Amino acid sequence: MSKVHTVAVLVGSLRKQSINRKVALALAELAPANLKLNIVEIGDLPLYNEDIDVTPPAAYSTFRQQVSSSDAVLFVTPEYNRSVPAPMKNAIDVGSRPYGKSAWGGKPGAVISVSPGAIGGFGANHHLRQSLVFLNVPCMQQPEAYLGGAGAAFDEAGKLSESVRPFLQGFINAYADWVEQHKKA
Ligand SMILES: Cc1cc2nc3c(=O)[nH]c(=O)nc-3n(C[C@H](O)[C@H](O)[C@H](O)COP(=O)(O)O)c2cc1C
Repeated sequence: MSKVHTVAVLVGSLRKQSINRKVALALAELAPANLKLNIVEIGDLPLYNEDIDVTPPAAYSTFRQQVSSSDAVLFVTPEYNRSVPAPMKNAIDVGSRPYGKSAWGGKPGAVISVSPGAIGGFGANHHLRQSLVFLNVPCMQQPEAYLGGAGAAFDEAGKLSESVRPFLQGFINAYADWVEQHKKA
């Protein structure tokens, strides 16, 4: 078997019953054997402020280390007001500093947006991709992943719907190939 690649997974919703978090956990279960997904928590990161980053808070340092030591990055995000939720954007900004030492550069990435709404978080998905272009994260183009109607993706016991499973399976399989193709030497 090829090497196991570690994936730092960022979830853009902080609430306990988050559908996005459930999707992230489902993807971790469905991932092929050459990917190991680990959720990296972003909820305790102070809002990015260059002044406090002169002596970085422990939360910044820990987060940067968790991303840096991963082989790849996966973003699972809701859409807030047609864009990226603040905690997710904050985490992206924290990881991008100090200047010249970004944790993101060159790590194969992918974005999946998840919403109970019909559009599936399209706006958030593409705003996030804009940052990834600048951060030099090679981001999987296809399959695009906008999971709409996600309120029905899990039953009350938390079980993934059989109608959604193939979509997530296809996405994570393609991402595993993407990571394999774009891994850093
Ligand atoms: C501040 C705020 C703004 C939102 N804006 C959007 C939006 O633009 N598009 C959308 O599809 N859903 C929007 N929603 C609804 C979220 O998609 C919904 O709350 C979703 O369940 C969030 O994901 P989660 O279950 O992982 O927390 C918004 C929710 C909040 C709290």
